[in-house]
Amino acid sequence: MELLKRLSEAAGVPGHEAEIRAIITEALSDYMDTLRTDHLGNLIARRKGEGPVVAIAAHMDEIGFIVSFIEDKTGFLRIQPLGGFDPKTLISQRVVVHTEKKDLVGCIGSKPIHILTEEERKKPLELKDLFVDLGLPEETVRERVTIGDPVTLLQDFLAYENVVSGKALDDRIGVYIGIEAIKRAGKIACDLYFVGTTQEEVGLRGARVAGFTVKPQIGIALDVTIAADMPGVPDAQQVTKLGSGVAIKLTDSASISHPGLVKAMRNLAEDRGIPYQMEVLPRGGTDAGALQMAQEGAAVITLSLPTRYVHSVVEMAHTADLKAAIDLLVAFLETADQVDLTL
Ligand code: CO
Ligand code: ZN
Repeated sequence: MELLKRLSEAAGVPGHEAEIRAIITEALSDYMDTLRTDHLGNLIARRKGEGPVVAIAAHMDEIGFIVSFIEDKTGFLRIQPLGGFDPKTLISQRVVVHTEKKDLVGCIGSKPIHILTEEERKKPLELKDLFVDLGLPEETVRERVTIGDPVTLLQDFLAYENVVSGKALDDRIGVYIGIEAIKRAGKIACDLYFVGTTQEEVGLRGARVAGFTVKPQIGIALDVTIAADMPGVPDAQQVTKLGSGVAIKLTDSASISHPGLVKAMRNLAEDRGIPYQMEVLPRGGTDAGALQMAQEGAAVITLSLPTRYVHSVVEMAHTADLKAAIDLLVAFLETADQVDLTL
């Protein structure tokens, strides 16, 4: 859990994933033969072996912002989002502005309700209305902040009761699952690549090129998925439920999982008594969507971790699902040479 806490609290907006790359490198270097970084920042780690070429991919980036403008007189910052935010999750959050010298803490401010007009109260909030207040005079802000500095949300990682909660579980928890599975696997029955991908949140960009480098026969994306098991959502639209096991993805809007891989995952889960649920996600995609299109195409699947409140700072996942995801990936790595990909 210490590693997951570090990953969740680390900062890495799309295109600025160096901190995450360093954590993965530290965690995995003893377990892999080679580790390299490409021009998009993907971390490509290989453990040579017999059997099919398998790439497991987890994205290192998190949704965030860059500074786009500094306001005259006040020094408030305007910010450009990188990734899909719901503006109402951002009000009153603390943020960190990562400047060249030192990190600055700020908050996303808003007009107090006391002075809002009737009309303003009805108007939906838009990202362009948001501003960051660093609590500093304009002059100091201009000295320290550069247009383009990354901005991340500030949030502690917590593990309590049966859940973990924090920012960027999307997709640091996927990174964590990959690392833990590689550490725990016995004999790995494939030529294994672990890819920490970049810029997933702005369109699966890192994975698209990593697929050409790795040329996997099998690609497994590790990512969070929607768990909308909450009041006001009918059962049929909940996608997954927290605590009901790792989700074996069938489809989302970027990929249709290979039937042979679906079957293999399902059988392994049944045989080893690993709790699982099947996932059909109407909208959204993972790195599997990019990996399948590289070279002559790869057989892909996503193992998802059901997560409530995705793309907020209180993303919540269940520790039993986390264990199930690691167990299933371990089982797959140990038997990857037996998978039947005949269509
Ligand atoms: Co995401
Ligand atoms: Zn994700």
